[in-house]
Amino acid sequence: MHDIAANGARMPAIGLGTWTLKGETCAELVAGALRAGYRHLDTAAMYENEAAVGEGLRASGIDRDEVFVTTKIWLTDLADGDLQRSVEASLGRLGLDQVDLTLIHWPSKSVPMAESIGALNDVAERGLARHIGISNFPVALIDEAVALSGRPLACNQVEYHPYLSQDRVLEACRRHGMAMVSYCPLARGSELFNEPAVAGPAERHGRTGAQIVLRWHVQQEGVVAIPRSSNPGRIAQNLDVFDFTLDDGEMAAISALGSRRHRICNFEFSPDWDPV
Ligand SMILES: NC(=O)c1ccc[n+]([C@@H]2O[C@H](COP(=O)([O-])OP(=O)(O)OC[C@H]3O[C@@H](n4cnc5c(N)ncnc54)[C@H](OP(=O)(O)O)[C@@H]3O)[C@@H](O)[C@H]2O)c1
Repeated sequence: MHDIAANGARMPAIGLGTWTLKGETCAELVAGALRAGYRHLDTAAMYENEAAVGEGLRASGIDRDEVFVTTKIWLTDLADGDLQRSVEASLGRLGLDQVDLTLIHWPSKSVPMAESIGALNDVAERGLARHIGISNFPVALIDEAVALSGRPLACNQVEYHPYLSQDRVLEACRRHGMAMVSYCPLARGSELFNEPAVAGPAERHGRTGAQIVLRWHVQQEGVVAIPRSSNPGRIAQNLDVFDFTLDDGEMAAISALGSRRHRICNFEFSPDWDPV
């Protein structure tokens, strides 16, 4: 497993996404993923599965200190006081004293950024999270958050897959020493795997389309990917991307699909996205 340096944090380049996974199934998938070699778990207060993620972590038999655990603070909890209480409640559900990383899940249009970032720093100062970061922040808001934060921000977690270019956000993350964590890294396992730019390398390298797409992510400097699967075989497959390399032409052909500008996670509360 490769780690990515992110402003003092070291994040394993592939993590397990857990959105929609619930209850015992979630706990079993998390435990199985950790036994298969995963060392990075992504959850959120909003996913309503933190207790199951914590249960899976304990059931895996893997030492807690070996696993990088991220959770996120939902939009309704970004005021000073609410934010700290949200992280405390997440820790209670996870059964942990500290998470490795906590993120503001979405930027707020009502709570001033200075207030949320101040509260996020307080969470780190109180030892509830080792590192802090943001999610779904476009470039102008990344710059604002970095300027307001006393502590370095480890990452910005954003939607990124071959159908959605994120050149501007990636450039901003690199400029600030942050990792860019790709969510929906497989574009939900859609028709993407049938694209010639993906199917061609899959055939040449003897890999699946998902492995080609995940290799494309982690082969970019400072990029981490958190694919989700409900299938233990696919979970193992998604981690097995560190023993082959895509050449420059293969990388460029996959990146060229980004001009489609296909955004999956777009809600009424989304910020103004950067132009693609
Ligand atoms: N910060 C945010 O606002 C935000 C938003 C969205 C997501 N996230 C995080 O990012 C994680 C990943 O995103 P996502 O779950 O939306 O989408 P994703 O990982 O791009 O896609 C998940 C889909 O891909 C399929 N899949 C996974 N591995 C596969 C493989 N090897 N071959 C074929 N199909 C495969 C899965 O089906 P099967 O289950 O059948 O394998 C599932 O339907 C989430 O779970 C969550 O942790 C964060």
